[in-house]
Order: sequence, then structure tokens, then C-alpha cells
Amino acid sequence: MWKLLAFLITVLVGVNSKLRFDNYTLYKALPKNLDEIKKLQELYNDKRFDFWSDPAPNADYVSILSNLENKIYLEEYLSAHKINFTVTLPNIQEAIDKETVATYSRSNGRFMNWTTYYDLDSINSWIDSLVETHEEASVIYGGVSYEERQIKGIKISHGAGRKIIFIEGGIHAREWISPAVVNYITNELLTSDDEETRAAAREFDWHIFPVTNPDGYLWTHTENRLWRKNRRPVGSEFGVDLNRNWNINWLGIGASSNPAMDNYAGTGPFSEPETRSLSEYIRSIGDEIEMYLSFHSFGQLLLLPFGNTTDQLANYNDAIKIGRRAMGALSVRFNTLYNAGNVAEAIYLASGVSIDWVKESINVPLVYVYELRDRGNFGSLLPADQILPTGQETMDSILELIHQAKRLGYMSSSASTLQATIALLSSLTIVFIILSI
Ligand SMILES: *[C@@H]1O[C@H](CO)[C@@H](O)[C@H](O)[C@H]1NC(C)=O
Ligand SMILES: *[C@@H]1O[C@H](CO)[C@@H](O)[C@H](O)[C@H]1NC(C)=O
Ligand SMILES: *[C@@H]1O[C@H](CO)[C@@H](O)[C@H](O)[C@H]1NC(C)=O
Ligand SMILES: *[C@@H]1O[C@H](CO)[C@@H](O)[C@H](O)[C@H]1NC(C)=O
Ligand SMILES: [Zn+2]
Repeated sequence: MWKLLAFLITVLVGVNSKLRFDNYTLYKALPKNLDEIKKLQELYNDKRFDFWSDPAPNADYVSILSNLENKIYLEEYLSAHKINFTVTLPNIQEAIDKETVATYSRSNGRFMNWTTYYDLDSINSWIDSLVETHEEASVIYGGVSYEERQIKGIKISHGAGRKIIFIEGGIHAREWISPAVVNYITNELLTSDDEETRAAAREFDWHIFPVTNPDGYLWTHTENRLWRKNRRPVGSEFGVDLNRNWNINWLGIGASSNPAMDNYAGTGPFSEPETRSLSEYIRSIGDEIEMYLSFHSFGQLLLLPFGNTTDQLANYNDAIKIGRRAMGALSVRFNTLYNAGNVAEAIYLASGVSIDWVKESINVPLVYVYELRDRGNFGSLLPADQILPTGQETMDSILELIHQAKRLGYMSSSASTLQATIALLSSLTIVFIILSI
């Protein structure tokens, strides 16, 4: 009865105006050499195709989405240039239909489920529930979006004087695994029984924002599953790529001045409320941030600054050593393999990206981007049954990042210094008591 009513309302209101991608096919081109990469780069500028990964000089695969009309052209182009390819998803609408999206409300349960994706309202109410039930958690606001939604987050703190680990999720709307994994990490920090996880939760202040592009994320749930940018209108187009809009080498290589493109950088550095307000929030706590993690998908990569050059700048050597060991730890549980490198060497040149700004302007010692699962088989449409394993292996790697960073002298938290001092004092007291006996 209720289901029928809901169905009728859906039909009448026309809620199902969602863009469909029937018979859009996802290809994985497998270039064997630089000549083949160059041919893919030429195709990159052809507006008929949506490149889900970039034909970078060292790419071993390139994911390309085609609609039904242009499939023949694409296949003939690849064959003509002897570029090997496979079809990974013959009809991406089927993958989209299989994705489960649940709603969470404080009345329907206290737990988030790791076998389904959630919409924006659900994530925000889940944060409220966590804050109600965990006294070390509080709601934080990182800023505001173009459509005036709050960038809502959660802070986990077991006391004053701790160094900060900052987590940025969901800046690219369609990369749904990013907010899902960020939520998983939050949940682990608050509820895990694992001693190392609990120690990490206690030792640092965590500032966590699962959805830094709320307008875009909402849009992927209501209108267009493949939307990436925010929702600012620009002439007849929409959206600025929020990870090309930061005030660092703005509109340099790997960013576009064309509002129709998915990597459109906006009208100026920090032209967007999301990046402007979030960067102000980051600056306000900047001195205390020891580690900054930005979550994207896909490609199974751990990326370091900078995106504008393959030069290995700043503390590259330390950062890559720490990162590689952490990716070793990530691979243990399910044998998921990641590569590590700076943005420019590992994937593509990109400028105006958040981690570069955080590194250069805020001087945060350790700054990484995770490009989460997978390697092009599902791309941005990672099935919900991979949320839990992706979350688990990523959490393993974060603990190892912290561990390795400490070994190299990073992450010295004033709280741990304090604890060490207290421990030292109490052992001295014991010695003193022994001596005085
Ligand atoms: C998708 O392709 C199938 C088989 O080629 C065809 O039967 C169907 O009508 C197509 N659907 C759309 C929406 O084009
Ligand atoms: C194309 O790729 C498949 C799968 O990796 C491989 O078996 C085949 O030998 C490749 N063909 C060429 C011409 O490289
Ligand atoms: C998680 O979702 C699945 C599928 O919707 C459901 O069967 C299960 O009961 C849910 N678990 C929790 C803890 O809500
Ligand atoms: C890349 O950006 C960094 C940081 O702003 C800067 O130091 C470097 O000169 C830039 N390199 C190039 C080639 O633009
Ligand atoms: Zn991304």
C-alpha cells in the first residue's frame, strides 16, 4: 500500500528524471608504447568520449566511456592504431542500477552499513548520531557550497594539544567510494577494538570531511551519476572542478579554461565558495596539521605533491618512503596493489589541486592523495560490495603511514610528548621511592 503510494508519487512528481546511460560502454585501452599513448591523447580532445583516466605518458591502461552512437568509431580508431582494448562494462546503466543507495536516519538505526552507499542527508545525520553517542566527537563545518550547503564534518579529539590529521573526501562528486571509505575510517576511529587504531584515535585530533563537494554529490544521486564538478552555472554550462580551483599554479597544465570540460578550473583561483571556505578552515588550524589525506578514485595510487611537475620537490624522499611502506601494508589483507609517486609522475599533470596548496601554502609535512580502487574495471562505479574491503585495507595503510612517519621523525604530537613526560616522571618517582627506601 505504502509502496504503491510511493510509486505513484514518484510517477506524478517525475522524480525519475535521472539521466540514463543505457548502452554506454566502458573500455580499457591497453597501449603498448608512446606512439599508442599519443594516439589516445589525440582522441582525448574529441568531445564525444569521456576519459575516466588520462593517457599519461606512462599509463598502462586508459579508461574510456563511449555512448552507443560512437562505439563503432572508437573501436575502429583503436583497431586502426593497433591499440589493444577490452570492454569492461558493456552497459554502464546496468552497473548503476545495481548500486545500492540506502538512507540513514536517526530513527532507523545507529549504524551505517558498509554494503551500501549513502546519500548526502544520510551522511550528515549519521555524523549527528555519532556526535551524540561519542563524547570525543563533535560536528565541524569546513565551509559552504555554491548552493549554500554546509561542508559538514566530524572532529575526533581526546583532549587539547594534539597534532591534527586532516581528511578530505568527496571533492569529486562521482567518486562515491571516497566518502564511503572516509566514513569507514571515522567509524573505526570511534568504535574499533583494535589497539593500534584506538591509539591513533587518541593520539591525534582528526578533522574529517567526507563530502567536500556537497552540491555535486547530491547531483550524482538525483540527476547524473557521473557528475564530477560543483554546480556553479557558467553561461550555458555548469560546474567548476574543485580540485583545479586552489590557489596554486592555477590554470596551469592539466586544467581547462573551458567550462564544458570536466577539469574546468573556474574563473580564478579560489573562485568557488567550497575551495575558498575550506582553505580558510585549513589555514585556521594549519600550524597543527601533520598529515593531510585527500581521497579520490580510481587507479590504486598514492600520490604526493606536486601535480605541475615531475620534479621531486620538498621532502619527496621521506614522503615516498613512508607512502611505499604504507602501500605494502595496504596490500597484505587482500593483495590489492598500489603504486606511489608524485601526481605528475604517477598519473597526469594537474594544477590547482588541494594537496599542492596544502603543501606549499600551509607547509604540512605529509600530504597524500589516495586514488582508491579499482584499476578501470568499474572505475567510478565501484560496486558497493567493495566498500568494506576497500575501507579495511585503507585503514591498515593509514596506521602504517602514521607508524612509518614516526620512524622518520614526523608526527611528533605534543600530546604524546606530554604522555611520554608523564610516563618518565612516574618512572622517576618509582626510582625515587625505591632509592628513598
Ligand atoms: C541497448 O542495446 C540493446 C541491444 O543492442 C537494445 O536492444 C536496446 O534497445 C538498447 N537500449 C537503448 C536505450 O538504446
Ligand atoms: C591484447 O590483450 C590481450 C589480453 O591482455 C592479450 O591476450 C593479447 O595478446 C593482446 N593482443 C595484442 C595484439 O597485444
Ligand atoms: C545492511 O544492508 C543490508 C542490505 O540492505 C541489510 O540486509 C542489512 O540488514 C543491513 N545491516 C544493517 C546493520 O543495517
Ligand atoms: C610547480 O609548483 C611548485 C610549487 O608551487 C613550484 O615550486 C615549481 O616551480 C612549479 N614547477 C613548474 C615546472 O611549474
Ligand atoms: Zn578525483
